[in-house]
Amino acid sequence: MDHFLYRDGTLHAEDVAISDIAAAVGTPFYVYSTATLERHYRLFEEALSPLPHLVCFAVKSNGNVAVLKTLAKLGAGMDVVSGGEYLRAKAAGVPGERIVFSGVGKTRAEMRQALEGGIRQFNVESEPELLALSEVAAGLGLRAPIAIRVNPDVDAKTHEKIATGKKENKFGIPIARAREVYAEAARLPGIEVVGIDVHIGSQLTDLEPFELAYAKVAELTRALRADGHTITRLDLGGGLGIPYERSNSAPPLPVEYGALIKRTVGDLGCEVEIEPGRLISGNAGLLVASVIYLKHGEGRDFLILDAAMNDLVRPSMYGAHHDIIPVQEPTPGLEPQPYDIVGPVCETGDTFAKARPLPPLGPEDLVAFRSAGAYGAVMASEYNTRPLVPEVLVSGDQFAVIRARPTFDEIINRDTIPSWL
Ligand code: LLP
Repeated sequence: MDHFLYRDGTLHAEDVAISDIAAAVGTPFYVYSTATLERHYRLFEEALSPLPHLVCFAVKSNGNVAVLKTLAKLGAGMDVVSGGEYLRAKAAGVPGERIVFSGVGKTRAEMRQALEGGIRQFNVESEPELLALSEVAAGLGLRAPIAIRVNPDVDAKTHEKIATGKKENKFGIPIARAREVYAEAARLPGIEVVGIDVHIGSQLTDLEPFELAYAKVAELTRALRADGHTITRLDLGGGLGIPYERSNSAPPLPVEYGALIKRTVGDLGCEVEIEPGRLISGNAGLLVASVIYLKHGEGRDFLILDAAMNDLVRPSMYGAHHDIIPVQEPTPGLEPQPYDIVGPVCETGDTFAKARPLPPLGPEDLVAFRSAGAYGAVMASEYNTRPLVPEVLVSGDQFAVIRARPTFDEIINRDTIPSWL
């Protein structure tokens, strides 16, 4: 069910007209749909039932505290990768026992912060990290619950920048060495082994890599138990892809992914954790922008928007496709025009789409980038001293600004001038 639909000729987020939000907050802005966030979370809940499980939302995909709280109220756990994300999860009211801490470079300060504040488990990615964590935990008189992230050397068949499960990637411990490292973990005073972790990449549109990786995890679970370890949890990571182009064939559904999990690891008696980000937040968000100019170039027309690569970097960083649609429903029968859709930033890379067919558009028209709720606002920067765009949350017929646009004073006053100037 799509909660971003045209009604009376205008694109709505649930029951709120996008044009009303634009009038209230100005463009560009991100807008998220509560109903979509909730629905996507519940799809995973249902897909994993009746296995004991915890769906840990990947905070990196969308860390707004109001978004996290929307999910936390449904019982979601959180997957965090920094001390900052940990504090966001806490600010959203998520108890420590529902927070898993992932990431390849946790600092001792971050470890201490999570141990003191409460943590479900650390997903440990290297032996030096294991030793550091043991020292920090033992220093606090604690034992840190851990899963070791194994690298199964599986090709996730996704964009190379977001594939993480091949041996040449920086992530995890080679699965062939896992038994050795678990033996070391069991000897450490500040460590309590609870499970195994794996995450092979993001935006996977094929289930086979998951199947290969999870089969290896099942085999490792049996081997580690035979070695005397207590393995009660399997963290299977995130990564299930979403349809970015409505015209394309759809990636597998959470229910199919859930069936795969049950098939591969369901008989091990473990609690299953998953860390989906994009599938929950991606299609729950739009980036809305205005056309500033229509510029007739050499053999092409440029639509120059007030949103740019600093607001949504995915097209320039990964060559990613986002559907772009007009906020006013096009009049039927109007011939689409090919536009190069660009932002105002001074780089040719600030291009969202080339020769994209859209109904005729001009200055002040509003457009919406679909599928922008994941890895959109969180990856934004203030490049060109462009303020971070506001975020808005819709629920039914209500909307609220959940992060305001900073003023230029706020931005500029973060800089300080040294005494010698
Ligand atoms: N767990 C771990 C350990 C991860 O590294 C990630 C994503 C996730 C879970 C969530 O994956 P998801 O379900 O969202 O696919 N900026 C890129 C995506 C980077 C993904 C990084 N890790 C993009 O815009 O496509």
